[in-house]
Amino acid sequence: MNHLDITNMPNLPFDVQESLNQLRINLGFSGAEIKTIMITSSTPNEGKSFVAINLWKMMANVGSRVLLIDTDLRNSDMRTKYRFQNENGILGIEHYLSGKIELFDTIYETNYQNGYIIPVSTNIVDPTTLLESNRFKVMLEQCKSRFDYIIVDTPPLGSVADALNIAKHCDGTLLVIRSGEVPRKVVNDSVSLLRRTEVPLLGVVLNRVDTSKRGSNYGYYYRYGYYSNYGYGNGKSDKKKPK
Ligand SMILES: Nc1ncnc2c1ncn2[C@@H]1O[C@H](COP(=O)(O)OP(=O)(O)O)[C@@H](O)[C@H]1O
Ligand SMILES: [Mg+2]
Repeated sequence: MNHLDITNMPNLPFDVQESLNQLRINLGFSGAEIKTIMITSSTPNEGKSFVAINLWKMMANVGSRVLLIDTDLRNSDMRTKYRFQNENGILGIEHYLSGKIELFDTIYETNYQNGYIIPVSTNIVDPTTLLESNRFKVMLEQCKSRFDYIIVDTPPLGSVADALNIAKHCDGTLLVIRSGEVPRKVVNDSVSLLRRTEVPLLGVVLNRVDTSKRGSNYGYYYRYGYYSNYGYGNGKSDKKKPK
């Protein structure tokens, strides 16, 4: 199997680690059938990739075989931000989807034990056809039998339909919301869109909560909650309590 090193993984503050760990545990209670989890948001820069890669790392760390798939083919910056290194160069998901290589050639083991990745190696302008192709569906089906979890990092829901097309092939979605930045209506629209896919919305991650505005007892950066906590839930998965 191909190998790449992730050489710029940030060290997270303890409270952020704790919140992500809670998220990992909560996802474990979503049900054994929930294996492919899509991470999305309404707009760019809310922290999808940040949540995706750190959750992936934590799952791997406790011994789950976990695959991170980057599907943000237009705007992925994971390979540079987290500095993916491989001496022979990296072949990404776009090479597989366009039929240039086989699936196995784009799955990399990493310097994180149990952590595997399908990266994007070159951003492309219009990936919609690739994401709608049968090869995309086949990829997820084949990976499902080989991994305990698949974390799918996606483009934002906002402008193009790519994320919704991806959702159709996943078992559940997580909506990342950048605290204080995104208007409530935009978040509500995202929730409605996700609901229409009939793929369960497993929860929301309220990212980058400004802890300086709260008392020290509130010292966590992340909050994770089911959307019903915000007064919207009546779907099946919303009824489960996260704690
Ligand atoms: N909780 C967080 N703490 C610190 N930095 C964060 C956090 N969430 C996101 N970031 C940073 O914010 C920027 C945007 O996040 P990113 O995950 O790339 O967003 P998206 O994938 O939704 O476009 C990145 O530089 C990322 O490292
Ligand atoms: Mg991203």
